[in-house]
Amino acid sequence: MSLSKAINILVIGSGGREHAIVEKCLQSPLAAKVIAAPGNGGIVGRVPCFPVAAEAIEELVKLAVEQAIELVIVGPEVPLSMGLADALRARGIAAFGPGRDGAQLESSKAFCKDFFARHGIPTAAYATFTDVNAALEYLDSHPAPIVVKASGLAAGKGVIMAETDAEARAAVHAMLEEDAFGDSGKEVVIEEWLRGEEASIHAITSGQDVILLPASQDHKRVGEGDTGPNTGGMGAYAPAPAVDTAIMETIQREVIEPTLRGLKEDGIDFRGILYAGIMLTANGPKMLEYNVRFGDPETQVLLPLIESDLVPVLYAAALGEPLPRPFRLRDDHSAMVVVLSAEGYPGSYRQGDAIEFPDSVPDSVRILHAGTRRNISDHILTCGGRVLGVSAIAPSLSRAAALAYETADQICFEGKYLRRDIGHRALR
Ligand code: AMP
Ligand code: GLY
Repeated sequence: MSLSKAINILVIGSGGREHAIVEKCLQSPLAAKVIAAPGNGGIVGRVPCFPVAAEAIEELVKLAVEQAIELVIVGPEVPLSMGLADALRARGIAAFGPGRDGAQLESSKAFCKDFFARHGIPTAAYATFTDVNAALEYLDSHPAPIVVKASGLAAGKGVIMAETDAEARAAVHAMLEEDAFGDSGKEVVIEEWLRGEEASIHAITSGQDVILLPASQDHKRVGEGDTGPNTGGMGAYAPAPAVDTAIMETIQREVIEPTLRGLKEDGIDFRGILYAGIMLTANGPKMLEYNVRFGDPETQVLLPLIESDLVPVLYAAALGEPLPRPFRLRDDHSAMVVVLSAEGYPGSYRQGDAIEFPDSVPDSVRILHAGTRRNISDHILTCGGRVLGVSAIAPSLSRAAALAYETADQICFEGKYLRRDIGHRALR
């Protein structure tokens, strides 16, 4: 069924990803009404926002019913893992995002690794443990360097890259005995440390059909040269030249297609994003992990590269139908997003600082809000670790970078921090 009339859309979440999704929906003639919950200081300037938390499943369903919503686009992973998509579908509302069963690919690393093993998808050698002695015994026969992961959701913080045996053992003790990651760390995955360059592939799927978006790379570390602690992502760019056509074909054949077959075999009706985190090793691409939603900040570079109307694509995916074709990308363009964060992030950070914006920005540049809010006098204040993302699109990545940094430099708030080297692997 192709979309013959405009639909009402609810976007769930409050980050730069959701702001980018809202902007994309607003460009569509097939979006009748767009609303968000809970939104942020930028989204609220664009569409009506409702103060319902992304984890308040029943209230979100109620909001969708009351607002006559026909498509809910779920941004973050937590509501998906709590069954938001299932609850919406049970009320006859189309939801873009997997149900609780599919969301396990992200919410349980142990589930995800077993899925890879069951369906022959290349990944690091691994074992999973809930018993501390069994885990320590495994480490005796698998010396460092090795990777120890909390199996559950840990906002990107549950991965310990252990350079020494002592670090690996300490991580096992911390997770299985000392509750360092709460329930998320009650089960651990210990796996081979893979070497290579990382890239991500986002696939939009309806279960039966799939569309691959351009490869992207994000910068997870807070410091320049990819140093310092992990963050949610300090910037991203696409397409990532590290993934050439041949590698993309290998990923499609060895990762994406077996994943779709595997989901079917396992009886999981997956409608949403498969975001494959991949290590490009000397022995070919190997899966690090799946996320089950759009990446943040990757979305801020992927959506501007899509020329086709995204609304009918997400709606068809949400209904489990064939995806509308042709699907057009801006093949001759590159995009970059530079994240502006608050002093202290990813530790505890400054908040409540007023933000000054440039009077105008070029058409090819978008300022996307993440941790911002509007006060009663309509000033925009910082209220999160990642505050804003400046996204730009241009015929070359170097031009996109120049445009993004030019605008990023014109935005002022106390404690503003940004990395100057986003895209360095592709630009060097
Ligand atoms: P994950 O949440 O599993 O994607 O892990 C977060 C980050 O840790 C990845 O983006 C990689 O940079 C790193 N990482 C995770 N697993 C491995 C591995 N087996 N080998 C090398 N790096 C890894
Ligand atoms: N940028 C990493 C993520 O969205 O998980």
